[in-house]
Amino acid sequence: MLQGLYEKGVEMGKNIVLIGFMGTGKSTVGSKLAEKLGMNFVDMDREIENLTGLTINDLFRRHGEIRFRSEEGLMVKKLGQQANLVIASGGGVVLKSENVQTLRKNGILILLEANPEDIYKRVSRKKGTRPLLKKNLVVKDIADMLQQREPYYACADFRVNTSDRELNEIVREIVGIVHPLRNKNC
Ligand code: S3P
Repeated sequence: MLQGLYEKGVEMGKNIVLIGFMGTGKSTVGSKLAEKLGMNFVDMDREIENLTGLTINDLFRRHGEIRFRSEEGLMVKKLGQQANLVIASGGGVVLKSENVQTLRKNGILILLEANPEDIYKRVSRKKGTRPLLKKNLVVKDIADMLQQREPYYACADFRVNTSDRELNEIVREIVGIVHPLRNKNC
């Protein structure tokens, strides 16, 4: 019965767009959430990598951030036209208001949050894959960047904390938020 309801929601449903700083768990949570709701999962950065044939790092290194942001904007336009997706966005997608407007048209924007210490631990595990983070990164750098980005992340419809929490608990919270909303037409 519940499964049936979800399927109906999926048919009519809005995208669920996970936004948030690097290392807040957008890809991990997004993939589990999609599995739980029987929706398709899309990781924007992976899509950009597939399309350009370059890793995000190489894209930045060879062509610069402006080119990356342009590819990101095109990907937003493409995904914004689709429905029933769980989208893990890149941490900087909200920096362009045009991206936010496009994603919001058919999407619920959920901000994943985590404290700077946790983010530091998580991004340190994948060193060298995030071109905007410097090599000798310290927790304070992350706290400063979070503060700079906060006005942009304020566009979120909902905020979900991912620090000190089990993946399943985070996913349950998001399911609880989105389920009543995805069947509404207004
Ligand atoms: C960025 C975040 C990265 C990636 C790029 C820029 C940002 O994605 O899109 O390195 O501006 O915060 P993740 O948030 O998945 O690390």
